[in-house]
Amino acid sequence: MSEQFLAKKDAGYVVAVVGATGAVGQTMLEILAERNFPVAELFPVASSRSAGSTIEFKGKEYVVQDLETFDPSGVDIALFSAGGSTSKVHAPRFAEAGCYVIDNSSAWRMDEDICLVVPEVNPHALEMARENKIIANPNCSTIQMVVALKPLHDAVPIKRVVVTTYQAVSGAGGKAIEELAKQTTQLLSSKSAEVNVFPARIAFNVIPQIDVFMDDGYTKEERKMMDETRKIMESEIAVTATTVRVPVFYGHSEAVNITFTAAMDADRARQLLADADGVCVVDDPSAEDYPMPSEAAGTDPVWVGRIRNDDSCANSLHLWVVADNVRKGAALNAVQIAEILIPHS
Ligand code: A2P
Repeated sequence: MSEQFLAKKDAGYVVAVVGATGAVGQTMLEILAERNFPVAELFPVASSRSAGSTIEFKGKEYVVQDLETFDPSGVDIALFSAGGSTSKVHAPRFAEAGCYVIDNSSAWRMDEDICLVVPEVNPHALEMARENKIIANPNCSTIQMVVALKPLHDAVPIKRVVVTTYQAVSGAGGKAIEELAKQTTQLLSSKSAEVNVFPARIAFNVIPQIDVFMDDGYTKEERKMMDETRKIMESEIAVTATTVRVPVFYGHSEAVNITFTAAMDADRARQLLADADGVCVVDDPSAEDYPMPSEAAGTDPVWVGRIRNDDSCANSLHLWVVADNVRKGAALNAVQIAEILIPHS
């Protein structure tokens, strides 16, 4: 067995949640409590805007600390979800103080010295974190896709993936959730919709842009899915993505077209996915049964349905993949990584 990451502590671990007042940070706290993560001491941390306010964890009130002045000495694990520029500055400060940082931003994901981990796919990559102590949590759309790709790729290597996403507003944080609710109310009251967070109105609309455009015409979100998938899968799979924001609060959906290097069919894929860790197959066209964000929201698995052969191309399949983007796409994946860091025997 490989050496433990953190020494066994019977009383539990000192945990900081940076971005504790945000959409993902709040869910991190909920999941730590739900899964009974052994927390001896908790430090909710955010910006000076919310420092001094209180948050609840397991029935107890905790005062939110200001990240700028927070001293990470003695913290064992810090879960960060406070944006890329915050992580760039503060993740190394925490790591130098000796704690493991699990960072949900995109700041470190493609750094070749930093591991990018989905526990069902590449837990072994965590070995890299022993020295630099920073672990990157992948992009939400990437996480749910690779959980579904991995069992198939292990059976027959994948050559190419074409993915289109239908992403919930919660992926853009608390203000984005408020914007969809507010615009919906405004439009239903015959008022004009105020646009602040997204590049266009999101209520009763579909926006084919997530994050900024790059010189090649792809958006940064699309680039993240393409690059991160290859890094996590440790394979030169060709990936092309179109990422789209839809007026859904929680739960990203993805239409994934996969071409394999050799024969693979829908029945075999359905069986492989049914047996895979972290995946639930819901795929019964006769009962009009398939995964949807309305049902996936608030749950942990990656849901897969609409599994069918793509007869337009040899060795190809379609999948429909849905997951709660704030849970498996962010907070849950981070807590699962934290669970690997602590000894279990
Ligand atoms: P705050 O509430 O003090 O602004 P969301 O993704 O839902 O928008 O949440 C972002 C989270 O990241 C919030 O907890 C927010 O804290 C925190 N945050 C944003 N910028 C900073 C910063 N510069 N320093 C510390 N925390 C930050």
